Amino acid sequence: MIFDTHAHYDDEAFDSDREELLGSLPEAGIGRVVNIAASPESIDDCLALAHRFDHVYCALGIHPEHCAEMTEEILEKIRRGLQDKKAVAVGEIGLDYYWPEPDREIQKRWFARQLQLARETGMPVVIHSRDAAADTMKIMKENHAESIGGVVHCYSYSAELAKEFVKMGFYIGVGGVVTFKNARKLVETVKEIPLGRILLETDCPYLAPVPFRGKRNSSLYLPFVVSRIAEIKGITEEEVIRTTERNAEMMYGLT
Ligand code: NI
Repeated sequence: MIFDTHAHYDDEAFDSDREELLGSLPEAGIGRVVNIAASPESIDDCLALAHRFDHVYCALGIHPEHCAEMTEEILEKIRRGLQDKKAVAVGEIGLDYYWPEPDREIQKRWFARQLQLARETGMPVVIHSRDAAADTMKIMKENHAESIGGVVHCYSYSAELAKEFVKMGFYIGVGGVVTFKNARKLVETVKEIPLGRILLETDCPYLAPVPFRGKRNSSLYLPFVVSRIAEIKGITEEEVIRTTERNAEMMYGLT
């Protein structure tokens, strides 16, 4: 079944139908979902959601956009949360230089601290990296991310760099963007890296695939991503679903 490795169902965009939608996923062919924390407030919401549904798990961490709110107390709260049996990764963490704030030094500091937390707790990491390729790679190398493992989610860099991440033992997260007309770089990446290193993700409520681009995204639209990956790689949709599900189970330790 399809494994959605990156979703934000705690987002207010799902306030009107969250329970119903999440409950309907298994019968729609979506086997498991990992709901990813972003802000300090989302930590409790992510744990609660994962406890309400058998097929929902969570990753706990602070997104670079929220790093200015980060404190030692919040880091300890994440550490405690990671002991929960439904918590399967540290994330999403990383660097986002698209906006001038938060200050880059603050982002780098908490990215490194959360990588260390992942190492200490034996968890993989879910990395968010936008317009920050060089610093992301640098901090990952400094913290020996190759011995931590995880995924570079919503991958937006070159195929060349993707191969570097793969060499470090990382997976590449592919979602709705691969169906966009201007997705040349991501299409190239999907072509160049092995299927055994690709994870399916929505990042919902954001980044809905064509023909729903701009609308609220959900795991129900992942078949459009599956079909595009199958087309790019010249393989069957079943193979895409089966292999990416196994990849996700391996990475999140759910085998
Ligand atoms: Ni996300």
